[in-house]
Amino acid sequence: MASPKKAAESDFFITGIPGLDALLENGIPRNSTVLLAGSPGTGKTILALQVVHNACKKGKKCVYVSFDENEHSLEKYARSFGWDFDEFQRKKLLVIKYVDVQHLEGLVSASGRITQGLDVRKALHHVISAAFIPDLVIIDSLSILMDIFFGSGKGRWLYAHKLFRSLEELNATALLISEKMPLPEAPEVADIEEFLADGIIALYYLRTGSYRERAIEVLKMKGCNHQEKLVAMRIEKGKGIYVAPDVEVFQHR
Ligand SMILES: Nc1ncnc2c1ncn2[C@@H]1O[C@H](COP(=O)(O)OP(=O)(O)OP(=O)(O)O)[C@@H](O)[C@H]1O
Ligand SMILES: [Mg+2]
Repeated sequence: MASPKKAAESDFFITGIPGLDALLENGIPRNSTVLLAGSPGTGKTILALQVVHNACKKGKKCVYVSFDENEHSLEKYARSFGWDFDEFQRKKLLVIKYVDVQHLEGLVSASGRITQGLDVRKALHHVISAAFIPDLVIIDSLSILMDIFFGSGKGRWLYAHKLFRSLEELNATALLISEKMPLPEAPEVADIEEFLADGIIALYYLRTGSYRERAIEVLKMKGCNHQEKLVAMRIEKGKGIYVAPDVEVFQHR
């Protein structure tokens, strides 16, 4: 009997995070838009920086748009894990863009109407040349972007649709950081972005008694036979994130 055809690597975006691609089965289906969700301190920025490092090392082009930390602070953060972004920036593989939210104020009308300045495609063209076609786009964070402009009103739905369509048109894999924990148990209260995203990877910092442990879970990923469990994750000093796809949390204690 013929062996099942191995998924072509080109169909997937390999995160290169130890254990994570196995949790997903093969990696993130290329050009998917994925929410990276978790409460503060769960490791979202480190994970995103590590994926950028791994992708640039393989010659992929990445854009990191930050509404939180500035370029210098992100580069310094990456360096603390041994990831040198200077080289990638010199080779024009990486663009890091800090957007001061105070400068965005003028881009939206008082009634919350969307202006062209919020079109991701157009916005990216302000910071990168037309010749720079990214393989990976990171937005850190989508929650800040959405909350500033739309809170939870009707405009949020319209903008989210527009934003996700713009991302699709980029033909890049997108990791959108979300500070809101998804609630799969109560889908009726889920945010629009959780429905629109092709995938959701959730990071946790769980407490059991006086201990805390990190965990990661793939909540959804279109086109992936991903594992359906919370598994252990570590942030290792000087190395970054390590996922243990075979270590289920709450089972080993
Ligand atoms: N050099 C390091 N070595 C080991 N662990 C670290 C190191 N730096 C940070 N951490 C851990 O990572 C956590 C922060 O991770 P990260 O910045 O990715 O969080 P985040 O999810 O992006 O948080 P926020 O939503 O506040 O931006 C810290 O609280 C700490 O526990
Ligand atoms: Mg962060």
